Amino acid sequence: MDIENQKEVPLAAVIGSPIGQSLSPDLHNYWLVKNNLKGYYIPLNVNLKMLEKTINLLPKLGFKGANVTIPHKTNVLSMVDKLTDRATMIGAVNTLHFNSSGQITGDNTDAYGFIENIKQKQPHWDPKKGPALVYGAGGAARAIVWALLHEGVPEVRISNRTKNKAISLSDILGAKVKVIDWTNVDSQLEEVLTLVNTTSLGMIGNARFSPNISKLNSQALVADLVYNPLKTDLLKTAKSMGLKTVDGLGMLLHQGVPGFEKWFGVQPKVTEELEMFLQEKCNVTI
Ligand code: ATR
Repeated sequence: MDIENQKEVPLAAVIGSPIGQSLSPDLHNYWLVKNNLKGYYIPLNVNLKMLEKTINLLPKLGFKGANVTIPHKTNVLSMVDKLTDRATMIGAVNTLHFNSSGQITGDNTDAYGFIENIKQKQPHWDPKKGPALVYGAGGAARAIVWALLHEGVPEVRISNRTKNKAISLSDILGAKVKVIDWTNVDSQLEEVLTLVNTTSLGMIGNARFSPNISKLNSQALVADLVYNPLKTDLLKTAKSMGLKTVDGLGMLLHQGVPGFEKWFGVQPKVTEELEMFLQEKCNVTI
């Protein structure tokens, strides 16, 4: 799109609280500049009390949509006019679109971002070939388990410190989801071809995460959603075993693509240059 031909300046935002740590403004403003587009993407610190008022006001102020982050991904579910099927299945919203009459649609692009990142980094990954094992049973886990099932993984084993949360997730997502005891997980790795950490373990400031993955198949892919630090203990161990790995930053970049395209009219690219630019920002945040 040519700047000269753009009549209005489209706006988008990321809504959360706190919001200062979000990499989304850096990501979207990088794409705006790269694509020579007029437009702005801003962080909005919004508490629960102001949330509904804010999302109803934004379309009237020229906003085309917004990302939604912690702690509002589930809070907005009841505040939108429509939910996409994937947002309904994942039970959370991370992207809002406003149409010209101000109608608000809630979408979830986390699962999309997770899968697109793997497809870009590990194009030979074949999800249908064997079971997956997911550590964690929070909101992120629900998106990842749904994504894996959607890609045809025959079975997803989930293991969570609080077992009841894993059981609830398996009740929601169906018979292919099996619950594994948190204390017994190392012995359940043998046929696993996709291993994903969705817990906050291993993140800076949290406890370390070094599960024993020595029984993993040599063809397995190991993914960690933690991107701060980028090279987690889990990924380092997997690399040292010669396994395929993907880190958490790539997912974050890819989940932004559908929103940007809808709001600003151009499909942005996830490039190595962009990843390096944001890696530096991650380090600054640390
Ligand atoms: P998110 O939406 O990012 O998934 P969340 O819903 O708070 O965040 O989930 C965090 C996940 O990390 C949960 O699976 C949590 O396990 P519990 O359900 O037992 O709380 C997991 N987690 C966090 N700290 C942990 C720890 N010290 N040991 C084991 N698991 C932990």
